[in-house]
Amino acid sequence: MSKSSKRLVVVSNRLPIALKKQGDSFEVHPGKGGLVTALAPVLRDRGGDWIGWTGATGDVDVQAHLDTYSRKAGYNLVAVPLSQEQVQGYYQGFSNEVIWPLFHDLQTLCNFDPAFFQSYLEVNQKFASAIANQSDEDAYVWVQDYHLMHAAWSLKQQNHKRRCGFFLHIPFPPPDIFLKLPWRKQIIEALLEFDLVGFQTVRDRRNFVQCVGLLRPDAKLSGRGQVVSVNYEQRELRVGYFPISIDFKEFQDLARTRVAADLAHQVHAAFRRRILILGADRLDYSKGIPERIQAMLTLYSKYPEVREKLSLVQIVVPSREDILGYKDKKLKIESMVSEVNGKYSQPGWVPIHYLYRNLSREELVAYYRVAAIALVTPLKDGMNLVAKEYCACDVSGQGVLVLSEFAGAAAQLQRGALLVNPHDVEGVADAVYRAYVMGTDEKQTRMHKLKTIIRKYDIYWWVDSFLNAGFGTRLDDFRQDSV
Ligand code: G6P
Repeated sequence: MSKSSKRLVVVSNRLPIALKKQGDSFEVHPGKGGLVTALAPVLRDRGGDWIGWTGATGDVDVQAHLDTYSRKAGYNLVAVPLSQEQVQGYYQGFSNEVIWPLFHDLQTLCNFDPAFFQSYLEVNQKFASAIANQSDEDAYVWVQDYHLMHAAWSLKQQNHKRRCGFFLHIPFPPPDIFLKLPWRKQIIEALLEFDLVGFQTVRDRRNFVQCVGLLRPDAKLSGRGQVVSVNYEQRELRVGYFPISIDFKEFQDLARTRVAADLAHQVHAAFRRRILILGADRLDYSKGIPERIQAMLTLYSKYPEVREKLSLVQIVVPSREDILGYKDKKLKIESMVSEVNGKYSQPGWVPIHYLYRNLSREELVAYYRVAAIALVTPLKDGMNLVAKEYCACDVSGQGVLVLSEFAGAAAQLQRGALLVNPHDVEGVADAVYRAYVMGTDEKQTRMHKLKTIIRKYDIYWWVDSFLNAGFGTRLDDFRQDSV
């Protein structure tokens, strides 16, 4: 048996599916996103597993539906059921009211309720049991994101040995912020139990290494480059940065289909061929949407010549609606949009078009195609894939990306994008104006740089480099038949 024939077990809070209730039963639909696109073929070829929560609460038993779906998908989907209390404590509480705001530098939004941490520990034990049931000691276990930082630690507690890698999709904060976490030592100790911990950027890794230095002074760092080692108590942990990406080719091809071209044409015509700026985000306070609208207000007041020529299309995808802070943000955004539109609309022209809903992938791609400028201005973001998707879908080769310096993507895309500080509304307005007046040559040169880097470091590169660093195996090893 070759080493590549070992089983890959992917673990994430959510399974890569969307569950839809149909009367008394459920329908399972495939999930979207680069991670599932890249990993599904790997899991299918090797008969791997994906362990996670379905999003359903309480006693709903959907495993039978998942089994039917698994047979079609070619790999196992294994549900970890969560009770109502666990959803509240572990998911809404610890994950989204403690770690999410803290790791996005918004500690004033944190609710450090000790019960949340207990629930998080309990659910991580539950995930560890599912991993142990589903795999043997030979498996490669790849855990995704901040909900499951205690997965390897819980496996050890249950006396199970597994090779475990962990990837954090969100930023890792600097020590002065991380140290506010009441369970800071436990989190660092838990992360040290993985064999590889991966971050989005070199800055996130530096922050983590500094926190380890403060909380585990016995740990020694060695090596340099993309992956370094941390040694403590005769153990070696590898720590690297692996900027996540998209399936560049898939987006590029999709943008060039007839369907996308027709939809783009319709959108363009509906907007009377005006110049469109696009914002597309999940509804989240980390995305800087109110600051962006404020920047648009500044743009229209500082540069009156753009009125009636430039419009912002702001797509907001509903998210985490039960969590405090999200509902308020929605109301704030809506009142700000009304303010700008009330002030500047003219017959036949509206400054901000606001869409609060899920768009199909085709519709989104059509907007990417039509937009002359993408305004991606999160206050803090692990990576931000909208920035990369926009570039991949830019058929004209002349789109301009205005990007927050606090998005992980800025580290890779700084040479092609116009970088802005999202808190500096004048600076953002100036950058949009600069994009508006930019000459064709500069636009093409910048977009070419952006596409080159996104094409080279795509989602397959990401999976491959993580698997190689974590388990000494390559993506292709999983695709070939074992001997
Ligand atoms: C971020 C996180 C993901 C999460 C997604 C949607 O991108 O990094 O782990 O799945 O947001 O959030 P939700 O809470 O709906 O899963």
